[in-house]
This record gives sequence, structure tokens and C-alpha cells, in this order.
Amino acid sequence: MNTVLITGANRGIGLEFCYQYGQQGWKVIACCRQPEQATELNKLAEHMSLQIHEMDVMNRNGIDALANELQHVSIDLLIANAGIYGEKPGHALGNLAYTDWADTLETNVLGVVKVVEAFLPHLRRSEMARIVALSSQMGSIEDNSSGGNLLYRSSKAALNAVMKSVAIDLTAEQIGVLIFHPGWVKTDMGGVNALIDAKTSVAGMVRQIQRFTMPQTGQFIKYDGTQLPW
Ligand SMILES: NC(=O)c1ccc[n+]([C@@H]2O[C@H](COP(=O)([O-])OP(=O)(O)OC[C@H]3O[C@@H](n4cnc5c(N)ncnc54)[C@H](OP(=O)(O)O)[C@@H]3O)[C@@H](O)[C@H]2O)c1
Repeated sequence: MNTVLITGANRGIGLEFCYQYGQQGWKVIACCRQPEQATELNKLAEHMSLQIHEMDVMNRNGIDALANELQHVSIDLLIANAGIYGEKPGHALGNLAYTDWADTLETNVLGVVKVVEAFLPHLRRSEMARIVALSSQMGSIEDNSSGGNLLYRSSKAALNAVMKSVAIDLTAEQIGVLIFHPGWVKTDMGGVNALIDAKTSVAGMVRQIQRFTMPQTGQFIKYDGTQLPW
């Protein structure tokens, strides 16, 4: 049985990843900040092979503690999904929310890399390990024609840079890395005007992950497989 670890698993895209991999018969290690309040996740656990663990990606000691607790587990797929947008009013020059900016970088960049680092021994136990990072087209410098959104854009651009390096660094071990733009998705973050639902976005990403071969490692792609500019 394949095993997937998913961060930010209690709602939105993370919850849908849990559902779709659970449906496919994978063992799901679902991580979230408040397991006891994760109602939908707890409901999923009644019907599929899904364990829920507490993880705040801003708490590096907590991540290490969970990695240690799961030290004998082999992980085939790590989905670093947890992310925040930062405060909207504090996104533009003249009104920048520096504390929120630091939290956004901490969550969207350091939080992702720390989870990857802590669970590398578990990934190394798999015969075909993959790492997936949820980035955003808003992290693309080339694609930025509308400006603004400094907090979020900078965090996802930094995430892209570090995950590209991680991909290169892990190539010798045949551990593959994919960096996704999930589309503009109807979730709490994406809002009601978004273009696609989480089901469509995640089904697309699951398909791309399934088709993945090592020459693609480090690519920045959309949920439908379209390659994106850096
Ligand atoms: N929706 C879109 O249109 C869109 C577009 C591009 C990229 N993305 C990216 O896709 C990913 C998922 O987005 P989404 O739309 O599903 O967002 P969402 O509905 O706002 O859900 C965000 C998830 O991240 C978790 N999270 C936030 N901070 C955390 C922390 N410190 N530790 C652990 N978990 C934390 C949240 O947990 P709590 O419930 O505890 O807050 C929640 O489970 C994000 O990385 C986002 O940037 C989304």
C-alpha cells in the first residue's frame, strides 16, 4: 500500500487530496493544526485508511517530533500543501504588514522546506518517492503583469526557487519533485469567484503525479500539466 503525507489536510485543496488518495486505496497521513476540530477529515477517517496528526508548519520542533514518532514509516508521496495568503490590506506599498509578511514566508517557504527535510528519511525508504509543493502562478516573476500582492508573490517565488534546488539536489537519489499551480480554486483562499473546484484541481494534479517521470523533476506546472514560466 502506498503512503502519502499531506499538510494543511483539514480543508480546501489538502482535504480533497486526502479524499482522492484515500479513495484510490492509499494510506493517508493527514496533518493539520487542530485535529479535534477537523470535522470533515475525521469523517473521512471513518471510511478510508487515514490517520490524522497534529502539525503546525510554523512549529519546527513539532515537525521533528512527528517525524520521530513516524520514524519507521515509509512515505511515497509528500504533499506540502499548507499555505497562507497573508493579510490583503497589507499587501501593497505604503501599507505593508511586515509581521504578516514574515509569517507568510515562514509558512509558505520555511514551513515547506522543514517538512521536506524532516521527512526525507521516510521518503528515502520508498522505492519511488515524490515531493509535491503547492505553489502558485502568482509566484511567477515572468507572469507578473498586475503587480501588488507582495507578501504572497514573494513567498511563492521563493518557494519555487528553493524547490527547484531541492529537485536538483535529490535527483541522484531518484526522489522526484513537482511544483504546482493548482489553478484558481474555489476554497477559503481562492474565494467563490474562482474558476474551478477543488475536485477538478486535485484530480488534475493526481494525474500529473501519476504520469511523472524523473526527467520532469523540478518543473513548475499547472494542475492540467501546462508548463509555467518562472
Ligand atoms: N485556492 C487557490 O486558488 C490557490 C491558488 C494557487 C495556489 N494555492 C495554494 O494551494 C495551497 C492550498 O490552498 P487552499 O486554497 O486549499 O487554501 P485554504 O482553503 O486557505 O487552506 C489552507 C490550508 O493550509 C493550512 N495552514 C495554514 N497555515 C498553516 C500552518 N501554519 N500549519 C499547518 N497548516 C496550515 C490551513 O489550516 P487551518 O485550517 O488550520 O488554517 C488549511 O488547511 C496553498 O499553499 C495555496 O497557496 C491555492
